[in-house]
Amino acid sequence: MVSSDASSVFPEGFLWGAATAGHQIEGNNTLSDHWALEHVPGSPFVEPSGDACDSYHRFAEDIALLAGAGLGTYRFSVEWSRIEPEPGVFSRAELDHYLSVVEACHQAGVTPMVTLQHFTTPGWFAREGAWNNPEAPKLFARYCGVVAAHFGDAVTWYCTLNEPNLGAMASLGGMLPMAAMEAFGAITRVDPTVTRAFAVRLGGAEDTVELGSPMRIFSTVAIENTKEAHRQGRAAVKDANPAAKVGWTLALVDFQAAPGGENLTRQLREAGGSQFLEVSRGDDFVGVQTYTREVMGPMGPVPVPDDTPRSQTGWEVYPQALGHSVRWAAEVAQVPVVVTENGMATADDADRIAYTRTALEGVRQALADGVDVRGYLHWSLLDNFEWHSGYAMTFGLIAVDRTTFQRTPKPSLEWLGTIARGNGATL
Ligand code: NOJ
Repeated sequence: MVSSDASSVFPEGFLWGAATAGHQIEGNNTLSDHWALEHVPGSPFVEPSGDACDSYHRFAEDIALLAGAGLGTYRFSVEWSRIEPEPGVFSRAELDHYLSVVEACHQAGVTPMVTLQHFTTPGWFAREGAWNNPEAPKLFARYCGVVAAHFGDAVTWYCTLNEPNLGAMASLGGMLPMAAMEAFGAITRVDPTVTRAFAVRLGGAEDTVELGSPMRIFSTVAIENTKEAHRQGRAAVKDANPAAKVGWTLALVDFQAAPGGENLTRQLREAGGSQFLEVSRGDDFVGVQTYTREVMGPMGPVPVPDDTPRSQTGWEVYPQALGHSVRWAAEVAQVPVVVTENGMATADDADRIAYTRTALEGVRQALADGVDVRGYLHWSLLDNFEWHSGYAMTFGLIAVDRTTFQRTPKPSLEWLGTIARGNGATL
């Protein structure tokens, strides 16, 4: 490991940047499964995504702000439903659109990292059962191959699926997804009216139509299909671009055992995390996405004490979780780690900076102990659409006016950019 500065253990070429996802920032992702669910009566979403941050049109400005602050990597996702609006029908215009996002990165001196599926899938894919469909791996891989062929050598870093382990973790009672689980209850067959309306909207049979969200990936069939989708997707990307670095990104909650909670903790770590980390063996990297910890007692999550600080999402403010997760990931996956998401939803930007500093300190210590971490991408570049919770959760380094879409960088953007420019030496 080469250190670029005597006082920094961050290796040369460490990726410093920020992340977003298409559906959360682009706006009007109308052909996706999530858009359909957002618009059925009784939708579990507190509000629809609508125009989001209008980044579909304003991506150059977003990238310029990121680059101007001193960040060198932008992780964003391409929207499958725009690129393949009907099965097997690929839109050249949309592929070109995303190529122009990639080109805007290069023009700004930014390394693009492309996520191929970030929660949303095409409506037709949902209509055919999403990840329960035995054809899912093949369908996903075909799309991955088309994207990678179109991008050619303009993109090196690819993430296949984002947080495919979320449902497995949630179904075992992890707190972080638990909150989401409640909100997604309507589509988890709890509310048949919503499920029916969703199916009707997508033109499919009620017992087949399935949201493509990772919250719905908890049956063995769906889990195994996503593993296979990742493997086939990775192969398709590499066929098109042998120099590509491919991995998938996992939600890793730092599960900790309270007395008596050891078994449950072990189970959660295994079924919710490690079984997915094992799939990363042989990948070029594994993406780690960590926000908080979860303390497990014998009966489940131990409630967070009232006087413990929480973020807007209700999660305990526990930035130390990141250092623990990168160690866990490296140990099980045995490949380099990239922190593909980490951050906090807060209205107080000073809290965001304090959180991020401690999280990065954990990464620094892991590096000093020899853990191979290649990058840190903050979630998120922009305040954006936090899924079922809507726009009230502000994770961004940049605020976005909901009416004018005007971008206002927060001090945390400049702060993280300064750390990045010094490759971590000023942390
Ligand atoms: C993980 C997801 O990938 C992202 O879409 C989400 O907004 C953040 N976590 C925060 O919840």
